[in-house]
Amino acid sequence: MDRLVVEGGFPLKGETRVSGAKNAALPLMAASILADGPLTLVNIPRLGDLRTMGRLIAFMGGSVSPFWENGEAEVATIETRNIDRPEAPHELVKTMRASALVLGPLLAKCGRAKVSLPGGCAIGVRPIDLHLTALKEMGATFDLSGGDIVAAAPKGGLKAARIRFETVTVTGTENIMMAAALADGVTTISNAAKEPEVVDTGEALIKMGAKIEGLGTDELAIEGVPSLSGAEYRVMPDRIEAGTLIAAVAVAGGEVLLKGTPFKAMAGVIEKFASSGLALEAQGDDLLARRDPLEPLKAQDMTTSPFPGFPTDMQAQFMAAMTLARGVSIVTETIFENRFMHVAELKRLGADISLEGRVAVVRGVKSLSGAPLTASDLRASASLILAALAAKGQSSLARVYHLDRGYNRLDRKLNSLGAKIRREKE
Ligand code: EPZ
Repeated sequence: MDRLVVEGGFPLKGETRVSGAKNAALPLMAASILADGPLTLVNIPRLGDLRTMGRLIAFMGGSVSPFWENGEAEVATIETRNIDRPEAPHELVKTMRASALVLGPLLAKCGRAKVSLPGGCAIGVRPIDLHLTALKEMGATFDLSGGDIVAAAPKGGLKAARIRFETVTVTGTENIMMAAALADGVTTISNAAKEPEVVDTGEALIKMGAKIEGLGTDELAIEGVPSLSGAEYRVMPDRIEAGTLIAAVAVAGGEVLLKGTPFKAMAGVIEKFASSGLALEAQGDDLLARRDPLEPLKAQDMTTSPFPGFPTDMQAQFMAAMTLARGVSIVTETIFENRFMHVAELKRLGADISLEGRVAVVRGVKSLSGAPLTASDLRASASLILAALAAKGQSSLARVYHLDRGYNRLDRKLNSLGAKIRREKE
């Protein structure tokens, strides 16, 4: 296993391009199952979860072209007409919860599926009960055997239904949207997720021939069609990677130009960092982020919420920035029940944070000092790297595979901006 060693105290300087969005590419890869022809995805980021999804599609009998051409031209052509094993086994699912995303497409296309029930993960129990309830309303039946969900669609295929999610669920919305694309009739989804990645998935489905209304709102209507064709689709830029890089400048100071920033998809994040005093300036499609290393940010309260609110996937990174801000920040996590795994590790660097349930009280300190750290989940790892950039002296981060699951070599990007991060075998 790899670990990262960080020398803190170097402001960031330079420019870097925002990679394709992990949480758009995952449902898009699952959507390929619905197509009667190859789906080519352009701007696929080079990261672990997508490699796992590619392995899963290959396991089922599909084929994925070499993920990455030379350099950064990331293209994947996915051919799924030969899928003859609509199954997602435990050894693949346990590393990536999002494999539940193949359930809807497999039921719609193959009429059956056997998917290992995703285990919990560091940030919470994360069931998929909302997905299953909605698919049941479309006529699917489920048995649980040996930790696998054995699913079957009705003889004549899934039926349209009027679905209402009691909780906003991103992959739940994506799963039902994909299942409904080939279901007979018009399926409506109320209290649908509005995240940009849901819209990106819907736009790709429309390009493949699906009929979808209401993308970006909480009311979706999907009119089933007999079949979907292949297509070529460009994955949207990753608003969470972009937000993480903005947070890196907030923590370390300096001046960075983020090329290809998805402004509309990250208004909440930009606004919150701007109100903390980070200089953020749009330059065409690029965003210039600046902070004088000698000028700390102002503390800001923040509460996570579904889009267009401040995303839960940016909570840990924002908290890292607030550990060095002037004043007290109240950070409230409303989406997951246990997404403060980074707090204990940030305190090892000298941060002053106290937890009361879903609320973290962050009292800004003058400085942090390096220490050995352990990653627990994807975004917690990112927040620890950011804090280490500003911590005096050396920090190390073990279990870096958490980071590599969700970022396109974040350490390399930060080093190209002047950070001093060494990757070594643990
Ligand atoms: C998606 O996860 C993202 N993953 C997550 O990003 C993100 O944190 C999350 O949405 C919230 O924005 C992908 O898109 C691949 P949810 P998802 O269903 O769909 C509960 C990252 O860091 N819930 O919107 O799994 C659930 O426990 C990852 O990139 C149920 O109770 O999240 C959570 O408390 C982490 N039953 C809340 O709803 C269900 O059936 C929102 O979850 C489904 C969800």
